[in-house]
Amino acid sequence: MLFASLLTALSAAAGAFAAAGQLVQVTNFGTNPTNVGMFVYKPARLASPPPLIVAMHYCTGTAQAYFQGTQYANLADTHGFIVIYPNAPDSGGCWDVHTTATLTHNAGGDSLGIVSMVRYAIANYGVDATRVFATGTSSGAMMTNVLMGAYPDVFKAGSAFSGVPYACFEGPDMWNSQCSTGQLIKTPQQWGDLVRSGFPGFTGTRPKFQFWHGTADTTLYPQNFWEDIKQWTNVFGVSQTPVTNTTNDPLPGYSRASFGPNIQAILAQGVGHTVPEQANDVLAWFGLTNLTPGSGTAPPAGPTTAPPPPAPGSGTVAHFGQCGGIGYTGPTVCAAGFTCVVSNAYYSQCL
Ligand SMILES: *[C@@H]1O[C@H](CO)[C@@H](O)[C@H](O)[C@H]1NC(C)=O
Repeated sequence: MLFASLLTALSAAAGAFAAAGQLVQVTNFGTNPTNVGMFVYKPARLASPPPLIVAMHYCTGTAQAYFQGTQYANLADTHGFIVIYPNAPDSGGCWDVHTTATLTHNAGGDSLGIVSMVRYAIANYGVDATRVFATGTSSGAMMTNVLMGAYPDVFKAGSAFSGVPYACFEGPDMWNSQCSTGQLIKTPQQWGDLVRSGFPGFTGTRPKFQFWHGTADTTLYPQNFWEDIKQWTNVFGVSQTPVTNTTNDPLPGYSRASFGPNIQAILAQGVGHTVPEQANDVLAWFGLTNLTPGSGTAPPAGPTTAPPPPAPGSGTVAHFGQCGGIGYTGPTVCAAGFTCVVSNAYYSQCL
């Protein structure tokens, strides 16, 4: 039901946030080992120089769905920033947040493809390299965490809606049930060490980070919110006790805990996996509410194409492989001796 209501909420929102311009696909934007799709929204009038937001979809989502289901493109028309919507190459529409490559600076995986888009936008659209931001929902929130850890030199700030700590999904599979169910518990030091391992030797300023979570989330259990607090307070070297914690902020039942200027942890009481993106709140966190759009340039030339449909499923699935879940279109029959077990609505596995 939670997933169904998430999808319903997002499709209901589509249309409500109609932006003036079009989403445009860009190809050949640089190193892209896993073939992540790049879709750009460039408003008619840009701030000078324009900041950039990378907005990442949930599992089963697409760049187009996140473009239509969130307010960022609409707000780009008002404020003059550029939005990139990456499109996940995985057949289930989830981001790779588990491989060593994706978790490591410049090592590959989906994260490197996304960062190549940012580098391309800086080089070709005049994007302000000091004002690049990331946000996302669910799997997109997990990728936001990955980008904060592996590319602290690229991003100035992040905002994650219903994600998990950096490296919580680390391992062989796309889905990590121990992490998703909130049973992957580490010390602040261990979580912090994982972030520091994403870009060994990095000594610059790290991106400030805001994360949102619902207390009734049964897809990515709310324990992940508390593990996130351990992780990022350790990274920034601040106390795990909030400096301030305001209730009914920004909505009734939400509480906004601040751990100094670099960390905000917003807990949504009674809310499930669907914590709707609060785009204006995110813009305020990114410092993008006072921009003055000037005379803009035309959107980048290029054909607008939908992502290719995944290949129809065939064959059988090996031990530990995926065999079902919302949006999954691969084979559903497990190899001899294994059974397809539902892990959650997004993921069934041959066990
Ligand atoms: C902030 O306060 C609310 C309401 O008392 C509480 O439920 C929440 O756990 C607090 N947040 C943190 C991070 O301690």
